[in-house]
Amino acid sequence: MVAVMNRGVLYVVVCAAGATRLVPSVLLPMAAERGWDVHVLATERAAGVFAESMEEIERVTGRPVRTDFHTTVGYSLPDPDAVLIAPASYNTITKLALGIADTYVLTRLTEQVGRDIPIAVGPYINAKFAKHPTYESNLRLLRSWGLRVVIGPDEPHESGVGAAKTFPWAELLDAAEPEVVERRPE
Ligand SMILES: Cc1cc2nc3c(=O)[nH]c(=O)nc-3n(C[C@H](O)[C@H](O)[C@H](O)COP(=O)(O)O)c2cc1C
Repeated sequence: MVAVMNRGVLYVVVCAAGATRLVPSVLLPMAAERGWDVHVLATERAAGVFAESMEEIERVTGRPVRTDFHTTVGYSLPDPDAVLIAPASYNTITKLALGIADTYVLTRLTEQVGRDIPIAVGPYINAKFAKHPTYESNLRLLRSWGLRVVIGPDEPHESGVGAAKTFPWAELLDAAEPEVVERRPE
């Protein structure tokens, strides 16, 4: 994939959540159009459940999807200029809010939280997960740390229905911009 200008390094972190299937066909072309140099990181569960999507992502980016440290792959990723966690699963949101760094993806994400870069989070969560008492408070916590949480119009969605078609990819990319202009209704 050829970027039109170099905006910097964007980590796209994908979790084991249904909208991951649209990352190669919808999100990655949009990110390239905006000039991002994209590295995709996947949770181990995402890589297992959405193996076909991982292959597609690798075809589109021309890079391996990262699920592990450089000790197994052979090289470290550059530090990102922005991070997009999309789709973000209930599990990864919860662990990130707790400061847990027990996997490659959570380690890389936890390291970025204290850096002065935009981190956009797009939950893709079913309504049963969303009713857990920690969910809303964890989103508030992430926002209080400066993370930019973008909720799609059909989120949380009903189990088995999904909301991938209305997942807010463009708004998430907007939220990953270094300067986000407050948009007020005219
Ligand atoms: C086919 C499939 C689809 C799933 N979809 C979602 C989803 O859309 N959102 C979500 O939060 N969890 C979903 N789950 C459950 C998560 O995969 C599970 O909580 C897992 O531990 C998340 O791991 P991760 O956060 O490391 O990616 C799904 C599981 C499977 C097997």
